[in-house]
Formats: sequence, structure tokens, C-alpha cells
Amino acid sequence: MSENNAPSEAQIAEAVEAALAAVAAAGSSEELKAARIAHLGDKSVITLAGRSIGAVAPELKAVLGKAVGQAKGRVGAAFAARAEEITLVEQQQRLREETVDVTVAVERAARGARHPLSTLQERLSDLFIGMGWEVAEGPEVEAEFFNFDALNFDADHPARQMQDTFYLAPEGSGKIMRTHTSPVQARALLERGVPLYIVCPGKTFRTDELDATHSPVFHQLEGLAVDKHLTMANLVGTLDAVAKGIFGEGAITRLRPSYFPFTEPSAEMDFRCFACDAKLGIDTDADPACRVCGGTGWIEMGGCGMVNPNVLRAAGIDPEEYRGFAFGLGIERILMLRNGVKDMHDMVEGDQRFTQHYGTEI
Ligand code: PHE
Repeated sequence: MSENNAPSEAQIAEAVEAALAAVAAAGSSEELKAARIAHLGDKSVITLAGRSIGAVAPELKAVLGKAVGQAKGRVGAAFAARAEEITLVEQQQRLREETVDVTVAVERAARGARHPLSTLQERLSDLFIGMGWEVAEGPEVEAEFFNFDALNFDADHPARQMQDTFYLAPEGSGKIMRTHTSPVQARALLERGVPLYIVCPGKTFRTDELDATHSPVFHQLEGLAVDKHLTMANLVGTLDAVAKGIFGEGAITRLRPSYFPFTEPSAEMDFRCFACDAKLGIDTDADPACRVCGGTGWIEMGGCGMVNPNVLRAAGIDPEEYRGFAFGLGIERILMLRNGVKDMHDMVEGDQRFTQHYGTEI
């Protein structure tokens, strides 16, 4: 340092060389920033030289001032040029890194579809809602009382036996997996009172092996109407409406005598075969080769009947004043017939190729 500690011209020249070398060596904006602090910052030779001008002898001022000015000019220009270069390089690098390759194959999650058993239950329920009925629900783990006793099953009725019913541990718990949706009849009578018009779609359970036409878990839609003056004609009219709703205008039903403890009289309901009847007309004989009805012209759809007075009594309802009818439809059976599903396995396996076939019905 010369007089007053002001840097000499040689020192300034040296500082300029060092600064230019640092600028050239900086490969990133961070490195360039560090170089700027070191070579043009508060403690740098060039800055100190600038500050010392005022203190040097008057004859030296011009020389030092010119040297500092030139130094700042050269170094400043070098920084500016390098900053521009680095910004450009970094920008290009960023663009390269952020490029999205729109041609890369994407892994797309397969879109699921609702199960046709669910949508069919909802469609059937809608049919009844349209007629002013309500949808009721009941538990799948059911009290033996509601599944059997309240429905007039004798204590030794064969349906209670182990070969049909899933009993829940411990022995004597009184709990079972409901074997039909009919316990909802008893529950709804107690909970909602009369007059009553309800349908209950839901899961039912029996100790069947899974095969092409059976499943230990299946679905029913229970219907129950209790009101003054209801007759079997109301039952038939309702079932006709269901048949038309499922299989289209022209569908008709017939009843065959049967037995259920909770209905009297009881009947099996058949729907006129929609497959061969569609071709032959309602009054003609069935097609003997029809695969849907097996040539009989009729398809079994489930059980029905007038509510047994004992069931009404068990719910505290006077059977002299109120009468009711009830029916139970098998949902799997309807789907098999309506949509030509040949094997129960397809319904329970959960393969999306099966459900997707039914479209995205809501
Ligand atoms: N619950 C009967 C069954 O599962 C069907 C049924 C319902 C019969 C309502 C009559 C009345 O087989």
C-alpha cells in the first residue's frame, strides 16, 4: 500500500486480474455471487481503493481515481457479461429438466364400475318408490327371533336346522346370518307401524356351496304392504308392475299355491318367459327349445302371499282391521335371466371385466 494506505496502481491492477480470473472461473450464479462479494464487496481492494481517493495527496487523486474507475468498469462489465451467459445456460438447463415427455406411456388406474347386483337392487327399489313405497333396511346379523319366531316358524321348522342357517358363536347366542329379508317385515311393522308399504333389498345367507347357480351369500328384495282392505288382487297387481318394470311391457305373472309360515295363503310367483314369449306372443305355447324357461313358458321368481295373521299379531297389529301381502324376489336370479349370466361365479368373483360390461350406470 502507498501513502495513506491507499492501494497502489499495481495492487489495483492485480485485483482486477484476480477479479477477472474469478469471473471466468464462476460456473453458476452462486459462484458468481460469491466472486462479486470477494472482488467488488465492501472489503475488496477495488472498493477500498475507491474509498481512499479522498484521502490521498491531491496530485495523486486523478491517477488513483482513473485507475479505480477503469478497474470498476472492466470488472463490472466482466461480471455483467458472465451473469448473462450463466443465466442463459441455467435457463436452458431448467427448461431441459422440466420438459414433460408427452409420449411416455402412462400407468392409468382402471376405472371401476358398479356391480350390476347393486344397480339392479336400486332400479327395483326405484320402481317401488315411484309407487309411493319406502325403502327399509335391516341387519344382516339378525336375531333368531326376527328371522324365525316373529315370522311364525315353529321351533322345529326344518329351515332352522344347521344345514340351512349360519348360526353365530357362541352356541345359544340367538344370533344368525339372516336367511331371508323377511325379518325386515317384522322389524318394519314394529318400528314404522301401519299402514305400511316397504321394500327391503339386501344380502341374505344360507349354507350353500358356491356353484353355477348357488351362492352362500345372495340378495333378495322383500316387499311388504299392510293396510286396511288389501287383497290378493293388490298383490298380483303389484307383481305385474314389477314384472313389467324388469322385463318390459307385456310381461305377466302367475301364482302357484305354496307354503311359507309367514304368509297364508302362500304362492310361488312365476313370470311369463320374456325370451320365447317375445317371439311367440302371450297366448301361444312356449318355445320347447327356449333356454331361459326350459320350454315351460314360465320363470320362477320367488315366494309371496298374504301376511299370516300371526305375524301381524306378533307386531301388535289387529288382523281383523289390517291385512297385508308380502313377496320376496331373488336378485341374482333376475340378473341371470335378464342379462343371460350363466354362472354365479361371475357375480361373486369381482372381476372388473364382468362389471364393466354393464357400463357406468349410476
Ligand atoms: N322369505 C321367503 C324366502 O326367502 C320368500 C317370501 C317372502 C315368501 C315374502 C313370501 C313372502 O324364500
